[in-house]
Amino acid sequence: MTHFRTRAVHAGQHPDPGTGAIATPINQTTAFGYGTLEQGAAIFAGETPGYRYSRFANPTVAALEAKMANLEGAPAAVAFGSGTAAMCSVLLGLLNPGDEIAFLGPLYGGTEGFFRQLGERFGIRVVDATQQGLAASLTPDTRMVWVETLTNPSLRPHDLAEVAALAKARGVLTVAHFLASHPAVRVVHYPGLVCHPQHALARRLLQGGFGGMVAFELVRNERSAAAAVLNQLQLFTQAVSLGDVDSLACHPASTTHSFVTAAVRAQNGIAEGLIRLSVGIEHPDDLIADLEHALRHAA
Ligand SMILES: Cc1ncc(COP(=O)(O)O)c(C=O)c1O
Repeated sequence: MTHFRTRAVHAGQHPDPGTGAIATPINQTTAFGYGTLEQGAAIFAGETPGYRYSRFANPTVAALEAKMANLEGAPAAVAFGSGTAAMCSVLLGLLNPGDEIAFLGPLYGGTEGFFRQLGERFGIRVVDATQQGLAASLTPDTRMVWVETLTNPSLRPHDLAEVAALAKARGVLTVAHFLASHPAVRVVHYPGLVCHPQHALARRLLQGGFGGMVAFELVRNERSAAAAVLNQLQLFTQAVSLGDVDSLACHPASTTHSFVTAAVRAQNGIAEGLIRLSVGIEHPDDLIADLEHALRHAA
């Protein structure tokens, strides 16, 4: 079932097990009976699959969600009763006071109005990146990038893959900022940091994207310190690839640059306390928590 139009017909849809109905029945019910107290408790605890109340899940909606996830190549989808319900749930579910959201306009009028309220009532900073571009508008506090495609009513498409790549770069920048402020870290090498000596050149060359790799040197510049940190990491896997969707970490002096003499390594700044990260697409807060824990062993 590889073709889009075949998946559009079949994904998430099966003959109804109760009646054999080919068309997905519309389950017009709020509540579902669950038989016994024990079965009800297990469904509410999430231990047994089953329906209980349509606000949580409904078989007709579940069929739509499974179909949309399949068509979008996503692990899951969530359907709402209206566009505004979807927008409010995503924004209020994921943002906290002090967070930033960057958007590329033009936006649907209702969305723009709600964004204003986010700023005025909920302390969420809303940044209009339409003129400046996303690359120049993302900061370590950016928690969400909002894009509507095609736009309403001007029907302008946005390059979602490009937006996703820039949003990932923001995650890398957050990790680099965290490392730069950590007392066990002597220096961070990341051209996206304003304090990097060639930041201006990198900005010109790389057009605002700075890649997913970050290197840093420990204050205690010894292999044993690097090993102590690396061996404590749990989300970062020790491996030498430049990048993947999952985060990797390596010790160049003992791996990629072990074939180079110690003198050349020293000359090129490949110190014993240097660690290289390839930052993946995990949430930066989780990556930072992993690094924070591991860096306690750097002393
Ligand atoms: C881009 C966009 N977002 C949100 C909405 C709001 O959707 P609804 O009217 O279903 O709440 C619309 C409606 O046209 C829209 O075009």
